[in-house]
Amino acid sequence: MLFTSVWAGNVQSISVFTTLRSPGHDAARDGPPPSPLERTVMRRVAVTPIAMSDATEFIAAAARSRKLHAQWFSPPSTSARYRAKLKRLQPPDNYGFAIRHRDSGVLVGYIEITNVVRGMFQSAYLAYCAFSGHERQGFMTEGLKQVIRYAFTDLGLHRLEANVQPANTASIALVRACGFRNEGYSARYLKVRGRWRDHERWALLSDQSPANAAKRRRATLKS
Ligand SMILES: CC(C)(COP(=O)(O)OP(=O)(O)OC[C@H]1O[C@@H](n2cnc3c(N)ncnc32)[C@H](O)[C@@H]1OP(=O)(O)O)[C@@H](O)C(=O)NCCC(=O)NCCS
Repeated sequence: MLFTSVWAGNVQSISVFTTLRSPGHDAARDGPPPSPLERTVMRRVAVTPIAMSDATEFIAAAARSRKLHAQWFSPPSTSARYRAKLKRLQPPDNYGFAIRHRDSGVLVGYIEITNVVRGMFQSAYLAYCAFSGHERQGFMTEGLKQVIRYAFTDLGLHRLEANVQPANTASIALVRACGFRNEGYSARYLKVRGRWRDHERWALLSDQSPANAAKRRRATLKS
């Protein structure tokens, strides 16, 4: 199976696979069922651990998406780089996800959770891209919401952070749509394409996550 080749021996990999692949709504896990509108949107993408078997499609998608990714993101564009990326994306510290259209199976985007820090932090970073031809259709919002749910429930994280260059309006719109809040501005935060670039720090805490809204509602009703 897919996950065995990627996250072999990792128990969490099995849970991510089943959780994210499952199209069914589990009331105990997910809270009240989504509204009809949410249901239509939520069913469009499936999120699976990125694997070696995704390489050919991923590399082709990355090549045709250079204009979309512009100066913002550089996904691996050769099989050697893809292999190296996969090697780095190893749980329990790093996770990569393919976002696929549920009906056609086509790869529409990619999301990674990196640098999981446990102990007093319980936090991690996010990076992501859509692939050309599938952008601006809400697939990334839907995929990111699924990844967020996985991060806060299965991984038990407390905080997810995305650092975005101020001019990257699409990326800011995406994190905003997923409930992230702008925490501040970090001057010369990351070296991108040879220059230290300023970034906005966007973060989402597990207790602010829309994914946990149902849990919060239940807790409020009980108290
Ligand atoms: C950021 C990115 C992943 C968004 O993907 P997407 O497929 O457009 O995402 P969605 O369709 O789910 O849209 C998410 C939000 O972004 C908005 N958006 C997308 N492209 C936009 C653009 N060019 N300008 C303004 N808003 C944009 C959408 O309208 C939507 O906002 P809404 O919910 O308020 O309507 C995509 O633009 C991308 O791959 N960019 C290059 C890589 C990148 O910047 N990665 C992040 C580095 S920090």
